[in-house]
Amino acid sequence: MGVESYSESIICLLSETDIQTRIGELAGEITRDYADSSLLVVGVLNGAVLFLADLIRQIDIPLEYDFIGLRSYNGSVSNGPLEVTRRLNTDVTGKRVLIVEDIIDTGRTLCESCIIDTIAANGAVDVRVCSLLDKPARRTHQICIDYTGFVIEDRFVVGYGLDYNGLFRNLPYVGCFEQEPDL
Ligand code: IMP
Ligand code: MG
Repeated sequence: MGVESYSESIICLLSETDIQTRIGELAGEITRDYADSSLLVVGVLNGAVLFLADLIRQIDIPLEYDFIGLRSYNGSVSNGPLEVTRRLNTDVTGKRVLIVEDIIDTGRTLCESCIIDTIAANGAVDVRVCSLLDKPARRTHQICIDYTGFVIEDRFVVGYGLDYNGLFRNLPYVGCFEQEPDL
């Protein structure tokens, strides 16, 4: 794929400005809700990296962050076995934990990994979920999303951390393909 054609076939759904404006609003809510708490932000690799980096820079309270690696995707289909590719290395005892995801689609990754329950069982004061995107049409596992950036339709999206076969994560916006890939 040539450099010029890299993002040519992608239709922008959420512009860089849309995303950054919404992140400012979410960060404001989080700052208010966690004032006077010990906040640990846990990003789910690899997709949540860009969102987490922008979000935490607008949260105006002291916080720690760490990452957990969960992978369920083969190409674009989330039917592969769920793999923990990185464990959390930070002690969660006595902390309020905010899990940051790029997208909640079926809900399977967060549910089957049991990370919410595991973090709570390890002594966290409470565990909440913040997701940039929510695609409710395909939900098979119920997940309570405490902070949602955008609710989107049932389209396969890429950009701003979201990939197709490992690519397109570096786009500063979220878009979809003119022609939906074979899923
Ligand atoms: P879930 O387990 O089906 O909720 O999916 C969670 C993970 O699947 C997300 O963290 C993403 O990495 C990936 N995913 C779900 N939908 C999409 C999409 O439309 N584009 C790219 N990745 C997606
Ligand atoms: Mg992900």
